[in-house]
Amino acid sequence: MADAGRVALITGASAGIGRACADRLAAAGWVVTGASRRGTGPAGHGARWSGLVMDVDDESAVRSGVSAVAAEHGRIDALVAAAGWGVAGAAEFTSLQAAQAQFETNFWGCVRCVQAVLPQMRAQRSGRIVLISSLAGVIGIPFQAYYTASKFALEGFGEALAYEVASFGIHVTLVQPGNIATDFTSSRRICTDGDSDGVYAEAMTKAVAVMARDEANGAPASQVAATVQRVLESARPPRRVSAGKVAERAGVAAKRLLPFRLFEAAAKPSLGVR
Ligand SMILES: NC(=O)c1ccc[n+]([C@@H]2O[C@H](COP(=O)([O-])OP(=O)(O)OC[C@H]3O[C@@H](n4cnc5c(N)ncnc54)[C@H](OP(=O)(O)O)[C@@H]3O)[C@@H](O)[C@H]2O)c1
Repeated sequence: MADAGRVALITGASAGIGRACADRLAAAGWVVTGASRRGTGPAGHGARWSGLVMDVDDESAVRSGVSAVAAEHGRIDALVAAAGWGVAGAAEFTSLQAAQAQFETNFWGCVRCVQAVLPQMRAQRSGRIVLISSLAGVIGIPFQAYYTASKFALEGFGEALAYEVASFGIHVTLVQPGNIATDFTSSRRICTDGDSDGVYAEAMTKAVAVMARDEANGAPASQVAATVQRVLESARPPRRVSAGKVAERAGVAAKRLLPFRLFEAAAKPSLGVR
């Protein structure tokens, strides 16, 4: 395999999509370091990669984690930024503290990792950066306004970054998973405290139940990992690629093609809102 021995740093590797990516790339011969706050290592039998404790919310942890990977292996060929979680709540009543915490991991966490790997990748004059975005980076999800906003921000960041680093041989790809069955659903933080009168209670309960059900019935994380491997090993990686169930992926094309009012009306039932 042409990519055997290449070095990948994957964040969010203790669970879900990040772990599936680490298992798959390691099985394909990549030298993988999987980072997370828990720092736990491989899940699958025979999978061989090393775990690293690295909280992406913490600038110095990211700097020292990335330096350690570069020092150990002499290069970093790929960054897969998968660390993330979701906050749910009415936009009006989600505390700014919770909303900012959401950005701290999902957006700034990716930024920290990108800034930390770029000097090494520029020196090599090659590298692949995969940012795990979401269909929520394209389509607004009611009662997940701050999760949506963190992924829209990531989409803009990745798109702009791609122009800047291309001349150094560095490619950036935004991978947009649909609903994927992982620990994401149980890790979701739900903010209802501010809504003491229950203004949004009924609508929110319904929308959150729909999203939790769809995630539980979602595609396996291994599908996203297969997409990530294709991106990393392709001669001409795409700027954006969706992953997961076909019907959900079609939503991205529908948003691009349909007049927005039509798209919105069609999307409402699947988003659990009237
Ligand atoms: N599941 C879905 O339906 C879905 C859909 C679209 C996009 N995504 C995106 O996919 C990514 C991975 O989510 P998942 O579904 O795999 O969820 P998951 O199973 O809950 O895994 C999340 C991973 O992120 C790590 N993490 C969270 N906060 C972190 C931090 N501050 N520093 C370092 N690691 C951190 C967690 O490990 P520790 O707790 O050990 O730190 C865990 O390894 C997220 O960016 C999510 O937004 C998920």
